[in-house]
Amino acid sequence: MALKKLVAGNWKMHGLSSDLAEIKAIADAARGYPEVDVALCVPAILIERASRAVPGFAIGGQDVHFAEKGAHTGCVSAAMLLDAGATLTIVGHSERREAQRESDEDVQAKAEAALECGLGVILCVGEHLFDRENAKAVEVGELQIDHGLPDEVADFDKLAIAYEPIWAIGTGKVPTADEISEMHAAIRDRLVATYGEPGQQVRILYGGSVKAANAAEIFSVPDVDGALVGGASLNAADFLPIVEAAAAAVEAPRAIA
Ligand code: 13P
Repeated sequence: MALKKLVAGNWKMHGLSSDLAEIKAIADAARGYPEVDVALCVPAILIERASRAVPGFAIGGQDVHFAEKGAHTGCVSAAMLLDAGATLTIVGHSERREAQRESDEDVQAKAEAALECGLGVILCVGEHLFDRENAKAVEVGELQIDHGLPDEVADFDKLAIAYEPIWAIGTGKVPTADEISEMHAAIRDRLVATYGEPGQQVRILYGGSVKAANAAEIFSVPDVDGALVGGASLNAADFLPIVEAAAAAVEAPRAIA
């Protein structure tokens, strides 16, 4: 079953008021590709201004706290993201797993809090280089999935997994098509083992050095239902060719034997 592709930008710690024009340029152009879901996950403090600037375009957060409210200085709840105009959020990005020491259990609780509030969730998993070199990449990915997946999912269209090998993020290095395919197939298996048939509905994105030059090849890999894009999502000139490649992959579906 071909799922509608999702191409999401992760702006990380980039974005000021002066970048709203770029967000608008991306949103305006993305409307030309209704066959692809496009979103930008911006810094929390920019969400409200961005969502006001591009009504109807999906603006997301990059993290969410698992608690509804309370004494959590500096944190942002799912209700706050929603209130600011976000429709989705990333959880479990490797940069947060590392720097904020987030565990799979934290990631699971964050995903559950966001889904419960009605936000879409992009849940990130991915191995270190030493895992890949020791032939442990798939095992690591499967463990992160098994321990991080939300228990309760009311709407499976709202959950996406992003496979982001840590060694491919911001490095220009990309796994081979076979490596991506193997991991995405393993993630799909775990989704179906956990949720049954609805696990087929969950989109699996690839992330890590996605660029205009490699997007078409990545989107042609089986079980790649979109991309989570860092650096190349910061401006329309770099990001839109990736959206275009996703649209072209829809127009030219793989021959299924
Ligand atoms: P790059 O596209 O810059 O490698 O970043 C990927 C990423 O971490 C997206 O979440």
